[in-house]
Amino acid sequence: MVQVSAGLERVIAAATVLSDVDGQAGRLTIRGWAVEDLAGRARFEDAVHLLLDGFFDDLPADLAPALGQARVRAFAEVAALDEALAAREPYDAMRALLARLPDGDGVHDALALAAAPAVFTAAVLRRRNGLEAVAPDPALPHAADFLRMVRGAPATQGEARALDAYLVTVCDHGLNASTFAARVAASTRAGLGSAVQAGLSTLKGPLHGGAPGPVIDMLDAIGTADNAVPWLEAALDAGERLMGFGHRIYRVRDPRADALKAALSRLSKSAGALPGRLALAEAVERAALDILRRRKPDRPLETNVEFYTALLLEALELPPEAFTCVFAAGRTAGWIAHAREQQASGKLIRPQSVYVGPRPRAAA
Ligand code: ACO
Repeated sequence: MVQVSAGLERVIAAATVLSDVDGQAGRLTIRGWAVEDLAGRARFEDAVHLLLDGFFDDLPADLAPALGQARVRAFAEVAALDEALAAREPYDAMRALLARLPDGDGVHDALALAAAPAVFTAAVLRRRNGLEAVAPDPALPHAADFLRMVRGAPATQGEARALDAYLVTVCDHGLNASTFAARVAASTRAGLGSAVQAGLSTLKGPLHGGAPGPVIDMLDAIGTADNAVPWLEAALDAGERLMGFGHRIYRVRDPRADALKAALSRLSKSAGALPGRLALAEAVERAALDILRRRKPDRPLETNVEFYTALLLEALELPPEAFTCVFAAGRTAGWIAHAREQQASGKLIRPQSVYVGPRPRAAA
């Protein structure tokens, strides 16, 4: 009997220099950096450079101006954002605009793709609110410009630093579902745009990058710390999963949750409503972990990155319907690096299936 590995669990399908997810120790290493150290000190530009280094001969040493120019190039496509597209979910509209970018393999293609989710997400959000899109300012750092394009007004340095911490924290994470999809597309020698489209389509679902919006719905529905236990018990009784908990690889707490919690704490010193929201979230987290341990004693289910993602992006006044777009704005850099690494290996990814349907009938 052929063994099928459901969900490809424990299958090793690539060797990578990009990142290492140690699920037993709860450690994430990105090109030699522990994620919490990288998130505390790097800007998004630095993380993109770190990931793409060695995959392009002509990668600029200082990526900030190049990424600024790439935002400007991407903005030219915002003209195609018509009413019908703006009425779609922000993620779908952002993905459709990204499909307009060239499907090449050069460094310019890579930087346009890395810069574009921020530009298109901001334009889509503004258009949904009946506002004109704001053009990028190539002289600004990427995270600061992202927030400025969304709001139409400058963000504080603290807010830009918090968004940098988020984008850096999620920029790469081993062979997760969307990165695998990007590598499959790249292995066919399709261009980087195609690899990014594969990644984008895979990130969207609630079991992967679509969870943080529902985390906000959960916190809103719970409302007060007293209500956490009954609400969570009822959700599990109804067969639901608790968004922001559990992971395929981590059997302990996701280290990215702590990197984001640290960024939130730094931000909360300046933000009005945040301390109350953070206190509610911590009460819900404690209750959820207790209940999950009791109900699933054999399956460690800990807090994952999406729980504190939701709080951080909410504190940055980004709407929940755009959270997955912002995740993509960070992860696109990782997809591009993985696509280049896969292309360099030259091998088509093509697993096998076992046929369990009916055998051919005998002809009459
Ligand atoms: N709440 C309740 N029960 C859960 C949860 C959860 N969040 N996660 C897993 N379980 C249970 C399952 O019901 C299953 O129980 P059973 O064996 O009694 O049927 C058991 O744990 C194993 O679940 P699987 O789906 O086999 O585990 P898998 O490794 O495939 O799932 C996943 C990982 C998809 C992340 C899962 O934990 C989940 O659905 N979490 C909620 C959604 C979420 O937070 N997604 C973001 C993940 S982080 C990221 O992708 C960026």
